[in-house]
Amino acid sequence: MEIKNHFLCTNDYSADELNYILKAAQALKIMHKKKVPCNYLAGKVLGMIFEKPSNRTRISFEVGMYQSGGKAIYIKASEIGLGAREPVADIARVLSRYLDAVMIRANSHDDIEEMARFSSIPIINGLSDKYHPCQAVADMLTILDFKERLEGINLCYIGDGNNVCSSLIMISSILGINMTVSCPEGYDPVLDDNYKYKLVRNPEQAVTGADVVYTDVWTSMGQEQERSKRLQDFKKYTVTEDLINLADRKAVFMHCLPAHRGEEVTDGVMEGKKSVVFDQAENRMHAQKAILLKLLAPQFIDDISGIVK
Ligand code: CP
Ligand code: NVA
Repeated sequence: MEIKNHFLCTNDYSADELNYILKAAQALKIMHKKKVPCNYLAGKVLGMIFEKPSNRTRISFEVGMYQSGGKAIYIKASEIGLGAREPVADIARVLSRYLDAVMIRANSHDDIEEMARFSSIPIINGLSDKYHPCQAVADMLTILDFKERLEGINLCYIGDGNNVCSSLIMISSILGINMTVSCPEGYDPVLDDNYKYKLVRNPEQAVTGADVVYTDVWTSMGQEQERSKRLQDFKKYTVTEDLINLADRKAVFMHCLPAHRGEEVTDGVMEGKKSVVFDQAENRMHAQKAILLKLLAPQFIDDISGIVK
């Protein structure tokens, strides 16, 4: 079977490739702000399959395709019956005959990998139980926007060692960010390989000197039945104003959203001066346009990257 260029996990890409995508994302962001039209994906159609709800992922992909001259189609997972009405392998081969790429948000990462194995078009992971790579690329773009570099940045993640945390660890490890994770016992990130990060249980200690403080929900989609136990287990891990004040004076606060104010973060931090969460949400669109370009029309990347200093 031919190996396709998918985007399943950030470790599918080297530092050079990720930096290449980030440069394209910066260029696309500038072009968007200047209202420069870019129809690089004219005639291309992206299918978007969702097994879980979404605000940012769905809308940023859909608008991103539209802005690039292409089109996106929303596919309800329950309608195509992923693995139930029809095997994932058959769905992948059928969709490959109609579409140019598929973005899929699935309960199980194994289904996304199965989809990629049988697809002859690029498959993009729009969040799985294990990873959230598109979020991680958008997060790097956000750090570049606010810190102007990635290498040597101290990124402190407080909370659950979940899909968002794992993708951040992977991309940080590849791009030279020093990542510290602070989570309660039993909630450590689950990673196959030895990625570089520091585990510090005490959040006050972990956050000291951080350039970026990041958190995500304590109860991810699909874990709702564990919510009351998790509220107990994570109660010392809320990002409060006091906690963030222990970070570097110029630290920024990041959250992939949606946020549960009063749980992993206080309203004061979300609405405070250090918060860049809405810039981060915007960057999903620019980053994903760059990922789509890399997968579907890479010949245009060199043309546009030159506009970034
Ligand atoms: N951050 C993120 O993926 O948001 P949605 O779940 O709303 O898509
Ligand atoms: N960890 C969260 C991220 C949501 C964007 C979840 O999987 O629900």
